[in-house]
Amino acid sequence: MSPPTPGELPLERKVALLSGRSYTHTEAIDEAALPAITLLDGPNGLRRPGDSTEHIDPRRALPATCFPPAVAVASSWDAGVTARVGAAVGREARAFGAAVSLGPGVNIKRSPLCGRNFEYYSEDPLLAGVLAAAHVRALQEQGPGASVKHFAANNQETDRKNVSADVDERTLREIYLAAFERVVREARPATVMASYNRINGVHACENHWLLTEVLRDEWGFTGAVISDWGAVGDRVAALTAGLDLSMPGPDEDGDAEIVAAVRSGALDPAVVDRAAARVAALTRRAAPATGDADLDAHHELAVELAADSAVLLRNERNVLPLDGVRTVAVIGEFAAAPRFQGGGSGNVRATRVDAALDAMRTLAAARNATVAYAPGFSTDGGGDPAALRDEAVRAARAADVAVVFAGLPEAAEWEGTDRESLSLPDEQVELIRATAAAARRTVVVLSNGAVVSLEGWHDEVDAIVEGWLLGQGGGRALADILFGVVNPSGRLAETVPLRLQDHPSFLNFPGEQGHVRYGEGVLVGYRYFETAEVPVRYPFGHGLSYTAFETRDLRAVPTGPDTAEVSVTVANTGARTGKHVVQVYVATGAGPVRRPLRELRAFTKVELRPGESTTVEFALDRRAFAYYDVVLGAWAVAPGAYTVQIGENASTVVAESAVTLTGDLRDLPLSLDSPLADWLTHPAVGPDVVRELAAGRSEETVRQGMRTPEFRMMSSMPIRKFVKYHARGVSAGTLERLLERHGLGRGARG
Ligand code: BGC
Repeated sequence: MSPPTPGELPLERKVALLSGRSYTHTEAIDEAALPAITLLDGPNGLRRPGDSTEHIDPRRALPATCFPPAVAVASSWDAGVTARVGAAVGREARAFGAAVSLGPGVNIKRSPLCGRNFEYYSEDPLLAGVLAAAHVRALQEQGPGASVKHFAANNQETDRKNVSADVDERTLREIYLAAFERVVREARPATVMASYNRINGVHACENHWLLTEVLRDEWGFTGAVISDWGAVGDRVAALTAGLDLSMPGPDEDGDAEIVAAVRSGALDPAVVDRAAARVAALTRRAAPATGDADLDAHHELAVELAADSAVLLRNERNVLPLDGVRTVAVIGEFAAAPRFQGGGSGNVRATRVDAALDAMRTLAAARNATVAYAPGFSTDGGGDPAALRDEAVRAARAADVAVVFAGLPEAAEWEGTDRESLSLPDEQVELIRATAAAARRTVVVLSNGAVVSLEGWHDEVDAIVEGWLLGQGGGRALADILFGVVNPSGRLAETVPLRLQDHPSFLNFPGEQGHVRYGEGVLVGYRYFETAEVPVRYPFGHGLSYTAFETRDLRAVPTGPDTAEVSVTVANTGARTGKHVVQVYVATGAGPVRRPLRELRAFTKVELRPGESTTVEFALDRRAFAYYDVVLGAWAVAPGAYTVQIGENASTVVAESAVTLTGDLRDLPLSLDSPLADWLTHPAVGPDVVRELAAGRSEETVRQGMRTPEFRMMSSMPIRKFVKYHARGVSAGTLERLLERHGLGRGARG
């Protein structure tokens, strides 16, 4: 006899599927042949429990490869890089018997202070979404499932389990949901993880609009929605909203509440059946641990991907690479004891860790150069800061180049808390300045999981490499970049502001009294800095190379009312092979809403040898031109002028080409209560209204009138009143007939 299907199980057994058995496991339902599955934290490496399936003690965790975290791989601007991370984590998940890797995190970096920014990709939803989709696809090709998190608007750690992110719908759709949408539609993740916070007052885990109407009905998600760990307060409400699996477990009381709700008729049993079926489907990903991951190969991969991710921010007098240098003073504790990952659930017990100092010694030796080392500062409070600094300054003075490894201490970047400032620790700033004053040339290498301020020392140093947190191979990758074994190709996935006060989130982060107001709306990150012309230290998309690139022959041609095709040629005009990121932005003022000055709409990374050029093509889909129209409750492309721009970064445009789109806004709702201006500018009805108002005169007379201050005074008047008082020749009946003719008879706008 075949085992029962999940739907045939007794109610209690169905409900047992809906909460975990432990911190990392679901419940096995043996009689239905449904195994327990293991869910382990990712996404840049697996956090493997040691001898317990309960809360994971990092000291007893088992080793896994720590690949570069999201903050780093985002700076690669290369979906090939995130795909390779995803595939490798997938292979390790299979080897270690995990059915689900809990990641990637695609939350938008709304503020540089968010304590989990190291786990997130970008301030831009396209970049985050494209990179995450590649990770998920590659991971799932290996068998295990992904869990895209934290859905949604979980952009801070302060009060994270309770705070309500108060966000208008256009901003949610265009900024905070867009990366999730892309991943769900394009990569079909096995699970989505609902976040701790509330959204406009409703907990994400109990948010029917979010989990059912948007995620399933609109985006077509068919997998299981799981809760963030301990996020569910009311199991019945969560289940009703569309949450399937509450983690961790056990949660016998919650299970009993669900059973009681079904028995009392308060909960439709079909809701339980649906959720149980989704969790049962997830158990198909269970597989015995194969134990066969090639950890040596994965370490090499971790080095390679880290080298693709670091960003060369500044390189005055071409101090880098360290060609022909005889003596190098390596300064800073992070050179010997790398800071390579953030703290909290994403923390991985690395299989090994490469220190930049060792790798630099090896590379220097092969070039007959010498390396001296001074720790310069201590992150554990040991040592006298002045003595450490003096020792470093002596080493710097004696060398051709000083390379200072600075950054944030591990405790500064930890899940559960946000930072309070962008500053590096004071003793490190003093160390950098003292070194720069003494050394012939100074290079600073940064290790930090989120943006730090470069002010107070930036202009005193020759070069800055933003190494972010690069995973266990980061030390070697940095050495390869410093010595030119690798040509840096990272680009900033987030803006480096001059001051925290300049940041669009500044006045509304992290909120107060249980609410955080996303007052900057869609003007997040560079969208704000560029629109408001607020100067920054380094714009989104910035990154230097040891070679030079030229952009030419941009062509942008509409391919329909709301789409276009773009092609552009890039050439390597320098002397080294290098990788270049082609960044395509769209700028427009079209439509009834405020548009950011420009928005990233496509990108790709190309590798070119000296003298080589290539032509890249992009098909810009409807979304590349659209805004979310809250009146229509839909995405819309307004008719009008659009400029396709190739940006060296978000603030430097190197080529642009105009396109005119007819758009797809013809069915805008309209009623007699809509303002006169909406009628006159309506793409379908507008010309007819002008004709009616002209009443035999030339239409140009009406159009001229529309440009007068008197007209502007009346333009917000509902047309019903306008015709009553100012255009007696046009009746309400005429207007109604116009609406009928254009199929807008039932449209309404207050
Ligand atoms: C984190 C999640 C993580 C989960 C399981 C939570 O605290 O927010 O990102 O996947 O723990 O460890």
